[in-house]
Amino acid sequence: MTNMFSNNQSINKSLDHLFTLIKDQNDKINQLRKPQPNLSIENHNQVKKLEQCRGVPSFYNYLKTGNGNGPFLELADGSVKYDMINGIGINLLGYSHPIYIQSHLESALKDSMICGNLLPDHSYLSFCNQILENINQSKLEHFWFATAGSLANDNALKILWTKTHPKTRLITFEKTFAGRTIAGQNITWNKKYKENLPELIDVDYVPGPSDAKTAAQITIHSLEKLIEKNGNIYSAFLIELIQGEAGFIFGDSQYYQQVLTWAKQHGIYIWIDEIQTFARTTELFAFQMFNLHDLVDIVTIGKALQICGTFYTHELNPKAGVLGGTFAASYSSLLVANRSLNFLLNNNIYGTKGLIQEIHNHFIENFNRLQKKYGEQVIPYFGGVGLMISFEVGDSSYELTWKFLNQLFDNGVIAFSAGQKPARIRFLPSLMTTLSHIKEVFDIIEKTLSEIIIKDK
Ligand SMILES: Cc1ncc(COP(=O)(O)O)c(C=O)c1O
Repeated sequence: MTNMFSNNQSINKSLDHLFTLIKDQNDKINQLRKPQPNLSIENHNQVKKLEQCRGVPSFYNYLKTGNGNGPFLELADGSVKYDMINGIGINLLGYSHPIYIQSHLESALKDSMICGNLLPDHSYLSFCNQILENINQSKLEHFWFATAGSLANDNALKILWTKTHPKTRLITFEKTFAGRTIAGQNITWNKKYKENLPELIDVDYVPGPSDAKTAAQITIHSLEKLIEKNGNIYSAFLIELIQGEAGFIFGDSQYYQQVLTWAKQHGIYIWIDEIQTFARTTELFAFQMFNLHDLVDIVTIGKALQICGTFYTHELNPKAGVLGGTFAASYSSLLVANRSLNFLLNNNIYGTKGLIQEIHNHFIENFNRLQKKYGEQVIPYFGGVGLMISFEVGDSSYELTWKFLNQLFDNGVIAFSAGQKPARIRFLPSLMTTLSHIKEVFDIIEKTLSEIIIKDK
């Protein structure tokens, strides 16, 4: 392994040695394992304690051990499972990827744990440089780190509002999810997430992408009605190009071109939330895949590279003082972000023949096969883009979906739900998901279908 920092030979040798030991240990986690009865009781007690600490029930009955390998995750009950959701999309490269191990080890050579915005170093600078170069076809020229996707969105909002003052009203699609800050929850469509919270931000929702051939006209008609009713008091149009929490609902290039062009013509800034889509579609950014380079004004990212932040144009660059904050990211995250970006851009990951599309195709072929075998009553829907894949089972109700998810978990696959009506099962698999992993995951899906869905028919 090549260390970015140390010229000290004995430190480098020790790091190499540790790297090999850690990698060897995790490499052994390479197949499913059932829970062990003695560890299961302890795991259960720990989960109960955690529930008490957090004051809410856990979705699943587990803590993880911290060991994993590719799609495999070791849990505290001794089991090893396929993790098809990996913490809602954190580990794009798969558990214990050499880049992760190496970055962790090297960050121990740093003088502290977290890089502050007032203490930027070379890893901070090189990430900004590298990523801004990748989007030089757009007008995005600046990047500011944030410690969560929600905070990247808050920064986007501040940047927009300082520019469009006194216009603060936003437009977004129905079913938008914008994060967990007060602003994020205000903007989010799902009322369940904002019960009794004051409505501090004025947001209008319009119908988003749908399968209808007239989807763009429907959206634009609603936009026009808004302007007719309220006048043009809008600061920005916030768009999730592939609506994550809604279950991966998306339009095509033409749809977005038409809708975004309408907004541009009305002087409304285009804010793209790529917190879930970033690095997971067939281009590094979903706006690149949909060919929207000329139309985007502000873009937020998170999750996949373990750092978060906001891109903005020169026109939107706010005065000093608007953006700030103590922390930018941990040093290990900054190293991961730099190296992941290099890895992603230099290994045939993107494009219609890249690895992401290949993994996607394998999932879709298998869903096709299962739907043909069991019918649309058993699998009414499957789809998605790149490494964002979702499907529905049975009546697509939230209750049945979670019954299925819990059984899927017991059978060895961790996934998560998205959306309510319909509820979908959501996969955000890592890049290290091979054909043989996919085959085994589908064997488990099929088993679970027979236990939960087909049995009930
Ligand atoms: C589209 C979208 N926006 C914002 C967020 C919030 O990001 P974070 O959870 O990192 O604050 C998420 C997280 O799931 C998301 O999917």
